[in-house]
Amino acid sequence: MTLYKPDLTEAWAKLNELAKHPISIREAFKGDQRHAERWRFEAAGIEFDFSKHGLSPAHMSVLIELATESSLDSKRRDFLTGEAINQSEDRAVLHPALRDFGHIEQLTNRFRPRVQQQRDLMLDAADRIRSGDWCGVHGDQFTDIINIGIGGSDLGPKLAYESLREFRSNSLRVHYISNVDGAEIKSLLSTLNPATTLTAIASKTFTTQETLLNAKTALNWYQSKLGLPDIASTPHVVALTASPENAIGYGVDPSRILPFEEWVGGRYSLWSSIGFSLACAIGSTGFAELLEGAHAMDKHFAESPFEENVPVLMALIGIWHINFSKVPTQAVIPYCERMGLLSAYLQQLDMESNGKSTLQSGEAVSTETGPIVWGQTGTNGQHAFFQLMHQGTHCIPVDFIAAFEDALSDSEHHRTLLVNMLAQAAALMTGKSAPTGEPYREYPGNRPSSLIMMPKLTPATLGALIALYEHKVFVQGVIWGINSFDQWGVELGKKLTNELLPLDADLSEFDASTRAWMQRLNSL
Ligand code: F6P
Repeated sequence: MTLYKPDLTEAWAKLNELAKHPISIREAFKGDQRHAERWRFEAAGIEFDFSKHGLSPAHMSVLIELATESSLDSKRRDFLTGEAINQSEDRAVLHPALRDFGHIEQLTNRFRPRVQQQRDLMLDAADRIRSGDWCGVHGDQFTDIINIGIGGSDLGPKLAYESLREFRSNSLRVHYISNVDGAEIKSLLSTLNPATTLTAIASKTFTTQETLLNAKTALNWYQSKLGLPDIASTPHVVALTASPENAIGYGVDPSRILPFEEWVGGRYSLWSSIGFSLACAIGSTGFAELLEGAHAMDKHFAESPFEENVPVLMALIGIWHINFSKVPTQAVIPYCERMGLLSAYLQQLDMESNGKSTLQSGEAVSTETGPIVWGQTGTNGQHAFFQLMHQGTHCIPVDFIAAFEDALSDSEHHRTLLVNMLAQAAALMTGKSAPTGEPYREYPGNRPSSLIMMPKLTPATLGALIALYEHKVFVQGVIWGINSFDQWGVELGKKLTNELLPLDADLSEFDASTRAWMQRLNSL
């Protein structure tokens, strides 16, 4: 059997040829009357415009050949049918099963009863918190929830909580603590009443150092304020985890453990009980809508032909930029302040998934892999780093994301916001020649961007948007031939931290710089 390597495919060679003759984005519009229309797509109620990438139908047909040569079709089937596609950890990857409403033919239903049971448990707990049925030790209704978790156990619920402000209960505030920086949790605790505060310890493994230290600080606070022993076992503490045994070992009452399965990757876990804090904020109905939106995107991804399959098209456009235009970064700019965390969320999703240099076969890759994802909201970014995007020496593809309507804004603000976004996309693409004698006013243009338009920011459209990016990342991983679902790269740093933490740590194996700084720290 020949081992798959993307750069050994026929399509890769053809794409290399095409890349020798880049077409300007402006010219693509001029040369084809139907160019704008040709690159308009729809999926799960979201509209997409991919016309500003300098790609012709010929490019896309070769990119689709590449997807076909990578066996994307059978890899997608393996993914959805629960094969152990995360080979290095010998695990299936089944986050679509968490939002399965039974309509995707390929998707395995092996786990449906268990998923349903875990989802019901979590949504019931959230609704009981909201109604006051689940209350504190002195009978007080909870007014505040602290979600203690990091990475995937923090970013998903935090992004959705911020984004879905319009749909939140007014009587419950959620606070997200992730960093081991004690100033964060200490300042938060000083503002809260322990009698009306619930702490959700969110950790797939229930072993993460930062989360356990923050949890310890929170539990000490309860103990000192409420004077109760074994606070972990009281109704003030709930565990969201795929390791119930570790949570029980920690002292959490088994009835207050909301479990999920091992096959849910950390950065794909918003849909599981890790979403508990969000469910408390938007209720079980709102959470179900989030799942339904993601499911609609799953269905689109599972069933649409590649030519119309938006996650596939986005992945292929990204591959074109990364591997053939040699552009390593991707900016994500939502024109919605409430979605300010989207770039941080996608950073983890994309960079932890596809920041890899080893093929599934174990050989080193010989192509570039995952992009450097970054960004912030527009219009703020326009007054900061957009200068470099317009006139700098790097080409930066942008995903512009917005909603047609915003009930929390008004028509004057919202129209101004959206017009700014369209103007930026047009300026980046079209550019402008400098007037004579003023070379600094040259805008080279030809800078690519996608436009992603939701009708409205709702639980359903947010769910669909996140699922879209999950599948884009999956498709790119398949084409690069890497495992998108492990994260060994983060282990070495964790191991060295553990070796350095004891005050009497043996420093002899460390370099002189680390030794010197550790000696300084140890003497403080
Ligand atoms: O840093 C790696 C990582 O494992 C992420 O993938 C994960 O989301 C995060 O740490 C938190 O892990 P856990 O949920 O097990 O505490």
